[in-house]
Amino acid sequence: MLTKEYISKLKNSDNGVLNRLLTPQRDPSTLGFILNNLGRLPSNFDGKCLIPLTIHNNDKIRLLAVKNIGKLSDDSYLTLLDRISGDDNNTMVRREAISSIGRMRSSKAIPILIKKLIDLDPKVVIQAVRALLVFKNNSKIKKELLKLKVHPNELIKNVIEKEFAPVKKYDPSKPKHKESPDFLKNIVVNGDVLSILKYVENESIHLTFTSPPYYNARDYSIYQSYKEYLEFLRDVFKEVFRITKEGRFFILNTSPIIIPRVSRQHSSKRYPIPFDIHPFLIEMGWEFIDDIVWVKPKASAKDRNSSFRQHRKPLAYKPTAVTEYLMVYRKKTHKLIDWNIKQYDYKTVQESKVLGEIDKINTWNVDPTFDKIHTAVFPVELCNKVIQYYSFKGDLVFDPFGGSGTFGKSALNLERFFFLTEISPKYFQRIKENINQSSLFSNNNQTRFLYYEDFKVKATRR
Ligand SMILES: C[S@@+](CC[C@H](N)C(=O)[O-])C[C@H]1O[C@@H](n2cnc3c(N)ncnc32)[C@H](O)[C@@H]1O
Repeated sequence: MLTKEYISKLKNSDNGVLNRLLTPQRDPSTLGFILNNLGRLPSNFDGKCLIPLTIHNNDKIRLLAVKNIGKLSDDSYLTLLDRISGDDNNTMVRREAISSIGRMRSSKAIPILIKKLIDLDPKVVIQAVRALLVFKNNSKIKKELLKLKVHPNELIKNVIEKEFAPVKKYDPSKPKHKESPDFLKNIVVNGDVLSILKYVENESIHLTFTSPPYYNARDYSIYQSYKEYLEFLRDVFKEVFRITKEGRFFILNTSPIIIPRVSRQHSSKRYPIPFDIHPFLIEMGWEFIDDIVWVKPKASAKDRNSSFRQHRKPLAYKPTAVTEYLMVYRKKTHKLIDWNIKQYDYKTVQESKVLGEIDKINTWNVDPTFDKIHTAVFPVELCNKVIQYYSFKGDLVFDPFGGSGTFGKSALNLERFFFLTEISPKYFQRIKENINQSSLFSNNNQTRFLYYEDFKVKATRR
């Protein structure tokens, strides 16, 4: 019987038997099994048995044959691989051929790889770029790669930008990544967020979690038009981008809303807020990371299909909305998440670990919370999840639309600093009340509540 162990024995001892086993006439599943289990090939391995398989009519077999040829690191196969990378009708086989050429790390491969930089398939180009980056200090290759800075494909452009980005000089005056301005720690400011943020320096905060006004669906906000509303949010999130530290997160909680019909002669209107804001966020430099769906119990949502249940006529169907989105974005950077984590000392990382049960999937079942004063508040559980997944202890977290201050409460509980802004004097009072009532808060007398004018004075006097 053909086993992995037997294949391993054969490849190290008897190429003759392997030659016979790998005849193109054999059934594809056996061929696939052998090719998949060849593993690392010995230096004296005779690759001739692989050549006929590169024209097999099964895509998978051709791909595996090409992959194994690449393991041989023998540049006498360059011409064959060059031909495959140009002629094969399967994009994955062509990509694999370039990958195999790259794996050889042979300078003889350079002209072939340069030729592939103008291939029409971005997957092939990326593979050629990866292979050429091994030689990126060679000025001729660097020049060829830099031409791709204007390539239409965003992934290719991104790789080139990252690889050839100027090394940033260390600036000792720039605050360290894990630090944040003291005057913003545990502060609630009553005023318009856009006016307040004018006094906040670039890269001051680590995380933003917010639920903006729901256009004109609630009592606390009036906008002349949906366009004006979206533009307002765009301006706020541009400021949030500016004050966010490199590579850190912004989690936006919104959902499509319904504006009720004016009369029976009109229909109600749906506004897909998360989808309309998304392009603005990408445009200003936020990178989309995830969409988390907050699922609420059916009983907590307004029934939308009571009449449909009676008449059952198509087109009039309307599902009851029991979800909201938590759209997760990261401030665009070439640095990996690992870089962000490395900005913290060992103790902080250990103490910030998310222990116990975690949310394994992108639907979170959380019951809504109702507040006696505010009509749309975050459940503490939702804030706790976001803070734990997306920040470290000692970070400064921000909510531009503070509402009743739930995010601040949660931040203090989880040993993060918070900064909230809230325009309504009524809700500003609610935050104060909320904070003073909370025993955890009263243990911490550091929270400051400032009116915009006082904040302005404090911020400019520093
Ligand atoms: C959906 S609520 C946020 C509720 C909050 N997440 C909570 O847990 O209570 C939106 C809030 O944004 C506030 N707001 C609206 N426009 C604002 C502005 N220009 N600056 C600051 N706050 C604003 C509203 O007064 C409202 O309290």
